[in-house]
Amino acid sequence: MLNEIDETRKSFDEIIVTVDNLDALEQLRVKFLSRKGSVSQLFDSLKDAPKDEKPKVGQALNQLKIYIQSKFDERKEKLEGGARNLDPNLDLSLPGRKQILGSKHILTQTLDEIMNIFKGIGFSVSEGPELESDYYNFEALNFPADHPARDMQDTFFVTEEFLLRTHTSPVQVRLMTERKPPLRSIMPGKVFRNEAISAKSYCLFHQVEGLYVDTDVTFAELKGTLVAFVKQFYGEDIPYRFRASFFPFTEPSAEMDVWWQPKGKEGRWLEILGCGMVDPQVLMNVGIDPEKYTGYAFGMGIERTAMRKYGIDDIRTLFDNDKRFLTQF
Ligand code: PHE
Repeated sequence: MLNEIDETRKSFDEIIVTVDNLDALEQLRVKFLSRKGSVSQLFDSLKDAPKDEKPKVGQALNQLKIYIQSKFDERKEKLEGGARNLDPNLDLSLPGRKQILGSKHILTQTLDEIMNIFKGIGFSVSEGPELESDYYNFEALNFPADHPARDMQDTFFVTEEFLLRTHTSPVQVRLMTERKPPLRSIMPGKVFRNEAISAKSYCLFHQVEGLYVDTDVTFAELKGTLVAFVKQFYGEDIPYRFRASFFPFTEPSAEMDVWWQPKGKEGRWLEILGCGMVDPQVLMNVGIDPEKYTGYAFGMGIERTAMRKYGIDDIRTLFDNDKRFLTQF
């Protein structure tokens, strides 16, 4: 038996030096230290040893067990690593490297804020493609063939039929074509216009469109909803006004202004959105019976809204991605 004990120790010594990962270590444990492992087996056969050898064998076995266990523990600690195992030149007292957290762009923050207000009063959110057909962007919305927006000067045409949408209103048309009333949705997204870039206008900006179609939808509801919106967004005391306006796809139409008071400058009315009752012809274009249903729609530019709220005076700063500007918000 003493021989076997010796063999076991040798074979353990041979294996342990090759163990370089925790899986291999576990295999080693099963082989030697588990219930069915070689050490336990040796203990089991102790009863068969001649009586006078028992004390000696027993002692040798105990030593073997202690030896294996301690080598095993040592290896385990090494493999599991921890500070003790690290390069001694490493200075653990060095301050940690700061992780710089990204944050939402001020336009995204503004859009989220606008959407949350409308979601809170029962609007769902819908989206549509940025590359649109003339039909959805203009024709279904009653833009006459000679409307200036249909000109290359104002719109980025990709082919004769396809263009970069100039507003989010085509999403209204898609929604009304695909689903039956009642519809109550807001539609955020990018829009494109072929304009000279200046502090006031950019070739790309963002809009949120709103649409509500049901039986008996009135202009009073449109006004009520928009007033509730500007009060929640700008504050209870925000001065606002509606002005009669014109859009080919709404009748009657209006624009809403809020009072803008930049610090140290003269205040003025700033137009923030267009709105109106969905033109019966548009309802007919999408197969909704205008005798039965009415609807309202509105659309606002996110850039202007954010500029008004945060006192930003140049739209281009919103697209420069200059961190010194962005981190202010
Ligand atoms: N689509 C219009 C624009 O871009 C805004 C608008 C939307 C007006 C919905 C009325 C109704 O100026």
